[in-house]
Amino acid sequence: EPYAEFENEPLVDFTQDESREAMLAALEEVRDQFGREYALVINGRAIDTSKRLESANPSNKKEKLGHVSMATPAQATEAIDAARNAFKAWSETPADRRAELLELVAAEMRMRRYELAAWIVFEVGKPWAEADGDVAEAIDFCRYYAQRVRAMDDPRAVNIPGEENSYWYRPRGVAVVISPWNFPLAILTGMTTAALATGNTVVMKPAEQSSIIAFKLMQIFQNAGIPDGVVNYLPGVGEEVGPELVGSPDVDLIAFTGSKDVGLAINATAADTDDRQTSVKQVIAEMGGKNAILIDEDADLDEAVVGVMESAFGYAGQKCSACSRAIVIGDVYDAFIERLVEATKSLHIGPAEESGTQVGPVIDKEALAKIQSYIEFADEINEPTYRADVKSLAKQGHFIGPHIYTEVAPEDRIAQEEIFGPVLAVIRAGDIDEAIEIANNTKFALTAGIFSRSPVNLRKAASRLQAGNIYLNRGITGALVNRQPFGGYHMSGIGSKAGGPDYLLQFVVPVNVTENT
Ligand code: SER
Repeated sequence: EPYAEFENEPLVDFTQDESREAMLAALEEVRDQFGREYALVINGRAIDTSKRLESANPSNKKEKLGHVSMATPAQATEAIDAARNAFKAWSETPADRRAELLELVAAEMRMRRYELAAWIVFEVGKPWAEADGDVAEAIDFCRYYAQRVRAMDDPRAVNIPGEENSYWYRPRGVAVVISPWNFPLAILTGMTTAALATGNTVVMKPAEQSSIIAFKLMQIFQNAGIPDGVVNYLPGVGEEVGPELVGSPDVDLIAFTGSKDVGLAINATAADTDDRQTSVKQVIAEMGGKNAILIDEDADLDEAVVGVMESAFGYAGQKCSACSRAIVIGDVYDAFIERLVEATKSLHIGPAEESGTQVGPVIDKEALAKIQSYIEFADEINEPTYRADVKSLAKQGHFIGPHIYTEVAPEDRIAQEEIFGPVLAVIRAGDIDEAIEIANNTKFALTAGIFSRSPVNLRKAASRLQAGNIYLNRGITGALVNRQPFGGYHMSGIGSKAGGPDYLLQFVVPVNVTENT
């Protein structure tokens, strides 16, 4: 299998002085660029709008990053038209050439690695190592989809005497990419390069909160020489431009990553077919999770504690893959909780731009209010066993520290709904079968994990846990392109796995030609 040979981009080791200095220098350089203005890019042209959003640092609300133009619905239509006009030439560009351009994109990202990570740190409050991981994953997506599209560019021939058959793929047309702020470079790059590699043209609508990073990506696409109109940058308020983008009769495919509610609304709108439409819209939607890690009675607690803690509180719990439920089996419950609380107390909470920070802020005040409302609700049932004190930080940024609730009932709201913050519900289970049943009893099926020394229980978990990505004896976040193709099912999403061998198939239509010879 050629795709099994893919090499992932190595991560930066921030314990090295050299790397730390490079990151500090990049943060300073980026800081010097604060206050700039960012225009839409439609058909290669920069367009300023009167409505702007002022992007701010979630770690330090007073620190303003810049002003981003917000598109109108009419501009959304213009962007779709630009993508439509660019489609013919791009779809006829050889796959190998498209792949080469994406490799140039990867090369520029690699050169600007620290600078891009610094923008991620400032714009979405992601700590250094995870911001670096975000850039590395973006590089991987470009290179992986380039590799995959080359492999797909080989028509399958079935020839029998008197008849030759050839089966291959065509792009679908215009793709709208609607991306989230939590992996502001990686996920936007992944969805967009999948569409581009396969010959579709794109309108990128990034999350409002990460519009500047998305602009950087647009710039990199332009620098690589991707022709005008093939990718368009359309920052805007979701409620304003979203309906236009998703409802347009000229859009063939929508690739979305974000919340379940928005994903379902997009799916419904996309299914409402307009008379002018010439194709049924394809929707790929990567949605939420309510992911569990099981801790078996014989688990290695040192590993389980670290795995749960990092999966639950990394990036302040704002990953769709995050662990929000720990299901502890039998007598190990008290020891596990005691050690988890001790370990969590030692996490360094602070501004994302400081090198020692392990847990940063959440994205904005709306997110903070939503997480707080879950906490108030949970507090009424039962005070948390651990609640980090972030009072002084909260004056400057959107901080909320790790919360660990224990003795949570499996059907409680904090054990059922996606909170998208650093709130962990710990649930008791009598045995492995009950633990698996509790784990499976939500609407979601994204990630899941187990810590156990029992081969039988590990196999049971692997075969029965309802999740797209199941991890045995490790944390449940940080899927790598090619090694852990990522994505779920049930209410966690529609479509095949990002960074996996089948992902690109969703962006194409298969065609068969039969010749009578
Ligand atoms: N792919 C990410 C992870 O595995 C989540 O989007 O953590």
